[in-house]
Amino acid sequence: RPVYVFNGPNLSRLGTREPDVYGAETFEDLVELCREAGRELGLSVDVRQTDDEAELVGWLHEAADSRTPVVLNPAAFTHYSYALRDAIAQRTAPLVEVHISNPAAREEFRHNSVVAGVATGTVAGFGLRSYALALRAIAEEA
Ligand code: DQA
Repeated sequence: RPVYVFNGPNLSRLGTREPDVYGAETFEDLVELCREAGRELGLSVDVRQTDDEAELVGWLHEAADSRTPVVLNPAAFTHYSYALRDAIAQRTAPLVEVHISNPAAREEFRHNSVVAGVATGTVAGFGLRSYALALRAIAEEA
């Protein structure tokens, strides 16, 4: 079964970006981890990253139209993008919000997610393992 793993802005810079917060592993490592978790769960995983809100909205429309489940790390869009929220609200399959860090334990502006209320659920704070846990939730949900 196909599953999308969509990543928002700055996540291509994993490994060099604030490694004390996001760890030393790179985006390529994340792609490999998701594909491997997918293999174990019988899911065929398509991992993408963009810094562009419009592109991410377009990918979510694609997922809605094809009824494909999504694991989504909206990155900073989490905290302010109503366009993303409205795109997620159109979902026709489970969508799990993921975060590498635990935003609730960080700066005040990260405490609110404008997308959490339209997601199936959220996994946060487990490093890159958050994605593997989210894929497992999708495998058991869908
Ligand atoms: C993040 C948390 C967000 O607050 C931040 O803007 C990110 C990454 C995470 O995975 O921990 O870019 O979504």
